[in-house]
Amino acid sequence: MHSPEPPRPHSPVPTAPRVIAVTGGKGGVGKTTVSINLAMAMVLSGQRTLLLDTDLGLANVDVMLGLSPRLTLADVFAGRCELRETIIEGPRGLLVVPAASGKRHMTELLPQQHAGLVNAFSQLDLPLDVMVVDTAAGISDSVLTFCQAAQDVILVVCDEPASVTDAYALAKVLSRDRGVNRIEVLANQVANPTEGKALFDKLERVTSRFLDITLSYLGAIPRDEWLRVAVQRQEPVVDAFPGAPSSLAFRELAARISQWQAPQGPRGHVEFFTERLIAAQGSACA
Ligand SMILES: Nc1ncnc2c1ncn2[C@@H]1O[C@H](COP(=O)(O)OP(=O)(O)OP(=O)(O)O)[C@@H](O)[C@H]1O
Ligand SMILES: [Mg+2]
Repeated sequence: MHSPEPPRPHSPVPTAPRVIAVTGGKGGVGKTTVSINLAMAMVLSGQRTLLLDTDLGLANVDVMLGLSPRLTLADVFAGRCELRETIIEGPRGLLVVPAASGKRHMTELLPQQHAGLVNAFSQLDLPLDVMVVDTAAGISDSVLTFCQAAQDVILVVCDEPASVTDAYALAKVLSRDRGVNRIEVLANQVANPTEGKALFDKLERVTSRFLDITLSYLGAIPRDEWLRVAVQRQEPVVDAFPGAPSSLAFRELAARISQWQAPQGPRGHVEFFTERLIAAQGSACA
């Protein structure tokens, strides 16, 4: 009879966090609101989550969370500190990298600085399950690079003609210039679920006809007064008012995302945690 094999020590396989960029093209559609509440819902479901604010023009993740950062990404770019020094703890252990609150006219950074930031993250040895990246409005190089560098892109749209056309423009450059071939669409501020799906269908009709990109419908977040109250209180609605309609939708969203397959592998030359991703795959195959 064979004696049972001694238990193997648990191998410290470095699993790469899932990196999700939240974008939208148009300003004010709810990118920051979605980023904060999705990240918070992930934390509440037990996932180690970091929220990265990349909106260097109108940074407001910290404002919306009631945080007063001492150092921000702007200090990293100015060479005043290291990336890890900017990480602060938000509600319930949510980790936050703030951008540069109040600096409305910070000059546009060079493309290599965006790529440098992506690299700097990949070298941080943080135990993370998820990283949520809030992006600025528009289709600047910074927005495109952070979307390209993430494994998943959530495109936030709302029921306004400009939101749909801006979302289309963003999907177009992401697919044509940045190798992004899959986007998840989230309808925000909807009056009812039908409105959200109709919005998706409208966008999907044009992208499927003219672009080489697959759009999936991720669902909808209702227009919710509780959310506005939470914004006033500088708290994520999922934490402040767990029973609010938008909180339910954000928790469902987080649960759905947790079901997604692990990232399949790097897709471009600039990607968050690529090295760790490759390392994890290598050990999985061994
Ligand atoms: N589902 C919702 N219900 C009610 N109000 C909402 C909802 N989503 C967003 N808002 C409100 O809309 C406003 C804009 O939201 P937010 O700042 O998240 O947009 P944004 O896309 O990040 O804007 P910007 O382009 O300036 O970064 C905020 O005041 C927010 O409270
Ligand atoms: Mg924003």
